[in-house]
Amino acid sequence: MALKSSFLGLQAFLLLVIMFMLPSLLFSKPNGKSFDLQHLEGCHKGQKVKGVNQVKQYLERFGYLHYNNDPAHANANDDVFDDLLESAVKEYQLNHQLKPTGSLNSMTVKQMMKPRCGVPDTTRMSSGTVSHFTFFPGTPTPKWPADKRSLTYTFRSGAEVIDLQTLRPLISRAFAKWAAVTQFTFAEAQAGAQSDISIGFYRRAHGDGASFDGPGPVGRILAHAFRPTIGLFHYDADENWSTNPTTTEIDLESIAVHEIGHLLGLGHSSIPEAIMFGSIEPGQRKRGPLQPADVQGIRTLYDLPLPI
Ligand SMILES: *[C@@H]1O[C@H](CO)[C@@H](O)[C@H](O)[C@H]1NC(C)=O
Ligand SMILES: [Zn+2]
Ligand SMILES: [Zn+2]
Repeated sequence: MALKSSFLGLQAFLLLVIMFMLPSLLFSKPNGKSFDLQHLEGCHKGQKVKGVNQVKQYLERFGYLHYNNDPAHANANDDVFDDLLESAVKEYQLNHQLKPTGSLNSMTVKQMMKPRCGVPDTTRMSSGTVSHFTFFPGTPTPKWPADKRSLTYTFRSGAEVIDLQTLRPLISRAFAKWAAVTQFTFAEAQAGAQSDISIGFYRRAHGDGASFDGPGPVGRILAHAFRPTIGLFHYDADENWSTNPTTTEIDLESIAVHEIGHLLGLGHSSIPEAIMFGSIEPGQRKRGPLQPADVQGIRTLYDLPLPI
């Protein structure tokens, strides 16, 4: 008995050691670097400052820079603030209703450090206009076919985070917001039946080509969903999820309303109040109602009359 309990004590001790070691071993520095942009505030074209490289990675990941490891772009992996980076920063600023200065002013740095959706932003500076809603790129524009207006969903997770009893009602409320302004209906699929949409929690690389980044770093990814008709909506299992978030937690339902917009074919909006804006603060609730930009976007995509 005594032996057994000291053995259990040792196990618990080892488990604790592993729990404390793991984050520093694996998680705190993805790509070997932490993402803290504070010290880059004020950086602009022509400078070379340690850490500019991380801004390049950030903008490349979210659709603003396309060095593509092209050797012709000598500055792809260094800390030089070059022309390409300046125009990418401008485009990012336009997409977030910030003044397009092309330099890393404090508003821009602050925006980049917010937790956000993993879906890349659809850039549009080349067209010269900032629209309030966007669609996924592609010809034809990705959307559900006309004979597909009753969509079914299932819950399938790679990690246990939130139980189904908690998840079901909030997901159902999130779908209802979009059903109210479209011709779509949404229902949970019968157990074992085929479904159009799969919803769940996953961590790190999880087989869909879009890895999550763990609980850090600053500017981290919270969730993602894919364009029609792929039908995948994943929460990053490493975040602090809640139905009633404090300032260190993320609201499950707000993220659901946003990601369902992607499932239906919307990209990110440049309107900070819109559900389809790409970032959200911990503790913030943005469960609806859908904003004019969201409603106009989805009704334009599905050829429904405006306004409703
Ligand atoms: C989760 O919450 C804990 C405690 O409130 C906090 O210390 C931690 O930073 C949070 N993690 C994330 C990824 O926000
Ligand atoms: Zn998004
Ligand atoms: Zn995924």
